[in-house]
This record gives sequence, structure tokens and C-alpha cells, in this order.
Amino acid sequence: MEVLITGGMGYIGSHTCVEMIEAGMTPIIIDNLCNAKAEVLNRIEQITGVKPLFLQGDIRDEAFLDSLFAAHDIHSVIHFAGLKAVGESVAKPLEYYDNNVNGSLVLARAMRKAGVKRLVFSSSATVYGDPQQVPITESSPVGETTNPYGTSKFMVEQCLTDLVHAEPDWSVTLLRYFNPVGAHPSGLMGEDPQGIPNNLMPFIAQVAVGRREKLAVFGDDYSTKDGTGVRDYIHVMDLASGHIAALKGVGEKAGLHVFNLGTGQGSSVLEMVQAFSQACGKPVAYEICPRRPGDIAECWASTEKAERELGWKATRSVAEMAADTWRWQSNNPQGY
Ligand code: NAD
Ligand code: UFG
Repeated sequence: MEVLITGGMGYIGSHTCVEMIEAGMTPIIIDNLCNAKAEVLNRIEQITGVKPLFLQGDIRDEAFLDSLFAAHDIHSVIHFAGLKAVGESVAKPLEYYDNNVNGSLVLARAMRKAGVKRLVFSSSATVYGDPQQVPITESSPVGETTNPYGTSKFMVEQCLTDLVHAEPDWSVTLLRYFNPVGAHPSGLMGEDPQGIPNNLMPFIAQVAVGRREKLAVFGDDYSTKDGTGVRDYIHVMDLASGHIAALKGVGEKAGLHVFNLGTGQGSSVLEMVQAFSQACGKPVAYEICPRRPGDIAECWASTEKAERELGWKATRSVAEMAADTWRWQSNNPQGY
């Protein structure tokens, strides 16, 4: 079964490709490499023994997509491609809306022309904004987003929801990821942010490997278990298997399907620092700093719907997330 993976050279897409190959599927990757390295393809091959077909190109290039759909018998599409840095999205809103919203519309139009109507979209817990209660269920309010990145995810969700209303033969699955972390257990693949990492785990990993001096902990005065921010960290391999479960569970069913992909457990910043120190066998230096503007206190997923309807549940612990991140980072101190 040929599945088109947009953004398949990126962090989550590459791990999902490995999981798909191991499940007997055939991913075809398109990526413009704006945030990924070509070396990823070799790593996928080292792990699985299979080098997937990779075509460098942009999802906003409709002629490129048309020729791709004409040349291959694509069964469904998993759409990871997008820009994802919250701070950058505030500075460059037009670029974010063009890439994330316009890019998704061009892709959906090309799919429709080719008669391919099964789409899984990478959405985010960011669409819930500052949640009124935790755990967050799929029917919690969405749309009160706080930055252009989050708004772009919400807009694409809305466009695809309207598309399914208008054309009920589509199958669209919106997967709302919580906080993806970790790496492939081989240590061959992981997250490779360019420049200063925005996210907690890659920052901790770079402190541990000596690339950065210390972690800035953004606030210890939240009303959480230890005052630091609490998130639902999910191992990227669990997230990858969630995509296979979605393709198999609802990927053939017409209509709109929405799932949280998280663990249902919240961990604080200091708990993540502690878990990482244990994994790498040394303390991770940190300093308590002011809150980061726009951050929420806590957020974790209700996982019941995915368990019930997809038979999928995350299984990997925070200790495994830290150990796998450390294996990747220590084997590849400068990334790919
Ligand atoms: P990533 O940046 O590692 O991967 C995205 C990939 O898309 C990159 O390889 C990039 O080169 C490619 N790309 C971007 N724009 C493109 C375009 N116009 N045409 C072709 N390729 C393009 O990010 P990731 O962490 O793997 O995230 C994948 C998806 O999941 C994104 O849509 C992101 O918004 C979403 N998501 C990520 C997180 C997270 O914390 N990592 C959380 C929630 C949702
Ligand atoms: N944090 C620090 N120091 C850092 C980085 C982060 O203390 O250097 C703290 C944050 O304040 C927060 C927690 O670590 O309490 C997690 O922060 P991340 O930046 O790793 O993740 P966020 O929850 O802020 O955001 C992430 C993605 C968004 C996505 C959101 C929900 O970056 O794109 O999860 O899925 F929308």
C-alpha cells in the first residue's frame, strides 16, 4: 500500500516511515528539506533495510503534486509538512499561513483531482489554547489559539472539516499531538533542531551533551505539582504507531475523525530534567527564569477515544523517552 508522506524527512515523519515500513506499507516521501537533512533517508534504510522513494519538492507546487499522483497509485496521504516554531510564527505570520494553510489547500486540491480522498493531518494540542480543564478531550473547545502557528493548525482543521461536510466521501483524520519527544531506540534517528532549540527535550539533550551551558526553566510559580509547567510528553515511536492505528482503524471510513495522541500523564519541567539526568548519568544544569510569554500552566490528554476507537495506547515511559533521546544525542552530538 503506497502512502504519500508529506514532510516525511522531518522528526515525526521519519519515525513514522520506519514504523510503516515495518508494518509492510510503502511510504513515498515528499519534502522540500527546509527543516530536514537528506541523511535521514540513509538512516531509515539502515534501520529497516528499505530506502523509501524520496522526491524533493514543495507541497505548494501543484504541478509537482499532480505529476506525483499521476505516476503512483497512492492509497492515502499523511500530511506532516509544515512550519512549527511558535516564536517564528509570530514574527512571520504570512510565511506560516502560506506554508501551513495554503500548502494544505494545494495538497487537498491535488488529492481531489487524483481521486485520492484519504487524509491524515498532523494537528496539535495547541488548537485547544489554554484549556479550561484537564484532561483535554476531543470535544474540549478549540480555536482560542495564541499564535499564528496554532491558528494555522486550527484553520487547516476547519478547512478539512468543511471539506468533509461538502464532500462526504472523504476520510479525514485530525491527529492532535501533545508533546512528541524521544528518538528511535537504535540511536540512529531523532530530533535535530536547527539553531537554538525552542522545545524542552532537545534543549535538555544539548545541555547534557555539552552544546549549551544550562537550561532556562521558564517559571516555577505555576499552580502545578512543583510550580513548573506540566505537559503530556509522548514518545515519538508511540506517536508513529498512532498513525498506523489511525490508517488501519478509520483510514478507510468516510467522514471526519478526530483523536488526541498523548499518554494521559502530565510531567513537569523538573521531572523531565530529573528523568534526563538519570538517563545520562549526570546532573543537567538549570536555572529558574521568568515565565515564557504565551505558555500555559498544564495540559494533558484524555486518551480514551483513541483507546476505544483505534485500539491504540502509548506504552513508553518518560524514562524511555529520556534514554532514547540521550542515545540519539550522544551518538550524534551535532545531529545528522
Ligand atoms: P519537522 O520540521 O521536523 O518536519 C516537518 C517537515 O516538513 C520538514 O522535514 C520540512 O522540511 C518539511 N516541510 C515544511 N514545509 C514544507 C513544504 N512547504 N513542502 C514540503 N515540505 C515541507 O516537524 P515535526 O516535529 O516532524 O512535525 C511534523 C508535523 O507535526 C508538523 O505539521 C507540526 O506542526 C506537527 N506537530 C509537531 C509537534 C512537535 O512538537 N514536534 C507537535 C504538534 C504538531
Ligand atoms: N520549557 C522550559 N525551558 C525551555 C523550553 C521549554 O522551561 O527551554 C518549558 C515550557 O515553559 C513548558 C515545557 O517546558 O512548560 C514544554 O515546552 P515546549 O516548548 O517543549 O512545548 P510546548 O508545550 O510549549 O509546545 C509544544 C510545541 C507546540 C505545540 C504544543 C502542543 O512546541 O508546537 O507543544 O502540542 F503546539
